[in-house]
Amino acid sequence: GGEGPLSGRRFVVTAGPTHEPLDPVRFIGNRSSGRMGFAVAAALAEAGAEVDLVAGPVHLATPHGVRRHDVGTAREMHRAVMACIDGADGFVGVAAVADYRPASEAGDKIKKSAESMAVELVPNPDILADVAARNDRPAVVVGFAAETRDLENAARGKLEAKKLDLVAANRVGKDLGFDSEDNALEVFSAGRHWALSPKAKTALARELVAIIAERMLERESR
Ligand code: PMT
Repeated sequence: GGEGPLSGRRFVVTAGPTHEPLDPVRFIGNRSSGRMGFAVAAALAEAGAEVDLVAGPVHLATPHGVRRHDVGTAREMHRAVMACIDGADGFVGVAAVADYRPASEAGDKIKKSAESMAVELVPNPDILADVAARNDRPAVVVGFAAETRDLENAARGKLEAKKLDLVAANRVGKDLGFDSEDNALEVFSAGRHWALSPKAKTALARELVAIIAERMLERESR
């Protein structure tokens, strides 16, 4: 932690994709680069917060002043978050966590054959929902919503279903959101809405962190 509006506060942030193994050399994953989550972690540290960043498999340098925990799968990410969430003042879930994983991981490389093949998928734990459901949940819990359509309804749905303080929604699709340098966010709280126009993820993250800091102060003055 350092000087700034979030001095003395600790945040846990998730970033990047998760990789769900099919066999020793293959996985199910997604196009998240980790850029958005790393930018949020960096902006929180710049604002003076102490930051634990739980990162899926990405190729990015650790932001200055951030404590990084590398994980592979959704279950590993869940475990790493639960190991450092106690006493945290804030949680920001930016990771594109795989909703499902293969029911079993083959011990040996799966062989090719002429037959078609089906992979059974089972649901992964929901990290954000589990953080928000804790008795001692952090004062501010922020989710992201990646949507290809109907941004506001989906975002407001997540806000209520997971009992979040804020949802940052982004439109995703081909060349949008995932694995790009720029992004745009629509941020929703129960009573308010902020439209953050398209810009570099680093700049966008600072604007989101300003909203988070304002929210943290509101909570504490109540
Ligand atoms: O990494 P980049 O290339 O920079 O791309 C950034 C991004 C597009 C991945 C990011 O901005 C983003 O939108 N992240 C959330 C992506 C997502 O998977 O959203 P979702 O609607 O599936 O999940 C909703 C929320 O629940 C998210 O906060 C997610 O972290 C969380 N979640 C979801 C499933 C799960 N099992 N555990 C979770 O914690």
